Amino acid sequence: MKQRRDCIDLVAPFGAAGSVTLPGSKSISNRVLLLAALAEGKTEIHHLLASEDTRYMLDALKSLGVAIDEQTSVCTVTGAAGIFSRREADLFLGNAGTAFRPLTAVLALASGNYRLSGVARMHERPIGDLVNALRAMGADIRYADKEGYPPLNIFPGEIDLSAPVSVRGDVSSQFLTALLLALPLTRQEAVIRVDGDLVSRPYVEITLNLMARFGVTVARDGWHEFRLVAGSQYRSPGRITVEGDASGASYFLAAGALGGGPVRVNGIGRDSIQGDVRFSDALEALGAHIDRDEEWIQARAPARGYLDAFDLDLNHIPDAAMTLAVVALFCNGTSKLRNIANWRVKETDRLAAMATELRKLGASVEEGNDCLEITPPDTISPGVSIDTYDDHRIAMCFSLVALSGVAVRINDPDCVAKTYPQYFEDFSQLIDAPVIAIDGPSGSGKGTVAKRVADALGFHYLDSGALYRLVALHAERNRVGLHNASSLAALARDLPVEFRDSDIYLSGDCVTDAIRAESVSEAASRVAQFPEVRQSLMKRQRDFRRAPGLVAEGRDMASVVFPEAALKVYLTASAEARAERRYKQLIEKGLDANLATLLRDIQQRDARDSGRSVAPLEKCADSQLLETTNLSIAEGVDQVIRWFSKT
Ligand code: DC
Repeated sequence: MKQRRDCIDLVAPFGAAGSVTLPGSKSISNRVLLLAALAEGKTEIHHLLASEDTRYMLDALKSLGVAIDEQTSVCTVTGAAGIFSRREADLFLGNAGTAFRPLTAVLALASGNYRLSGVARMHERPIGDLVNALRAMGADIRYADKEGYPPLNIFPGEIDLSAPVSVRGDVSSQFLTALLLALPLTRQEAVIRVDGDLVSRPYVEITLNLMARFGVTVARDGWHEFRLVAGSQYRSPGRITVEGDASGASYFLAAGALGGGPVRVNGIGRDSIQGDVRFSDALEALGAHIDRDEEWIQARAPARGYLDAFDLDLNHIPDAAMTLAVVALFCNGTSKLRNIANWRVKETDRLAAMATELRKLGASVEEGNDCLEITPPDTISPGVSIDTYDDHRIAMCFSLVALSGVAVRINDPDCVAKTYPQYFEDFSQLIDAPVIAIDGPSGSGKGTVAKRVADALGFHYLDSGALYRLVALHAERNRVGLHNASSLAALARDLPVEFRDSDIYLSGDCVTDAIRAESVSEAASRVAQFPEVRQSLMKRQRDFRRAPGLVAEGRDMASVVFPEAALKVYLTASAEARAERRYKQLIEKGLDANLATLLRDIQQRDARDSGRSVAPLEKCADSQLLETTNLSIAEGVDQVIRWFSKT
């Protein structure tokens, strides 16, 4: 087994963008496994989640004699048609509530001798309400240790469903889910009545939806009464595909809303049967841009850059609500999360844990019995170590703090294995879009090579020279002198530029060709000498770094703007070769050109670009040299892609 890391450090100075294919939903995976095991016939399960919680369910079912064939992309379960062949088993279920509760109910009706236990935290999570409901119908369940809590010993009972079964609904919806999943085993007519207000209703909807896929329809009256007809029996649908995990999606959608985006999650869409898909509505209400399709959902930050503070009842999305608690750190005021009392009986006391960790980051937090009020700090404290309480969701939601641009440390990050073993790899991929930095002198062909590399890899493309050219043109149009560094810097900071397809617009005017004029080249080389101008363009350049990657070309891409670039290339050619290429370009365009003048201009510009005090043009020690005097464009492109494939 992989060794658990002590901690992981995260920081995302470039925001977040890209796409993630979600692992299968835990809630659906464990329900489908159990239903397939109880059903008549074979079920092929596709996109089953591979995680600790599903492992516990799979191993438990195997211990009960169910035949399961696990392949990488498909898991085939041969259903026991209601009765497990093993009438005795000792099952260890870790901290997997989605395995423990339903198996308790099923085994209570299975006429065997079973023991169910878990980790220490599982033995602190109440199960009395479920046990009481099962005992009332004749099940024989005994507490092995503390009254009301696992571990449990189960013996054969005399099940009688002539009276309605009552179950509390206000602590955990998993008790109702457990009864619903188990009762068809009796083949008797059954009525379940829910006492108190049912929490987390969308999870019960998942249960009903999946039972229907396995041939059992439950009639319900509101959320208080559920009815099963006599003779109900699970039948395999043959094949079933598990949706992507909607709770897992919440971290990535939030990352898109906080870190620029767009971030797309593949594997859930607008018709998802999971309640947590509603998290995207909450983000939208805060101002994020959300796009939905059948197969994916995507989030982007609002143009104004921040999200609205909120006051929301989150009972319907208890897991994804934790993500909102961290999002609250980025909102413009105090936010309130209401009706989340059942956070206290989850993997840890999540209300207390979230309050403690949010406070470490500088937030003011008021912890109520069933709510949290969070006021963000002016600036999030850097370098904080977040404790995760062996709770996968705490580890995942606090990773979002990295999007504030300050480093955050997540302790025991591998606790995410409970539901999402790949989480930090997927998250890092969104915040770490690779950069290929290509620097070189004017006319070396780096622009053409860089653009073609970007196209070949499907990466974004930054022509940083165009930005200096735009500043020069903007200065000319606004009659700002080329010596006035602070005014030029101000123009650079607020450059009204828009890149649309392959055209560039300045104040709405298409300037794609205008910025290529020789006079603008000359002026650009002058404005580029001012440190203030360079600084003003820094963030704009870094903002081009987006998943899946960026090819950035200029003079200081490798040395200053993207020193962490995955691949650095210094692309050059002799001044004569460059002058000749430029000469050909101009003649082809039908323009006047003089080779000697072009050569002199190029040499002068080289001298200025290499001789300036800030960010002079030079080859970095860790750059690959690409000398193109005798190379074609295609050969240059191939070479860059070959180098990149080896990074
Ligand atoms: O690459 P180009 O010729 O379009 O660049 C125009 C000018 O901008 C050039 O004289 C150098 C300057 N420049 C720079 O200083 N730093 C960059 N990263 C890109 C261009």
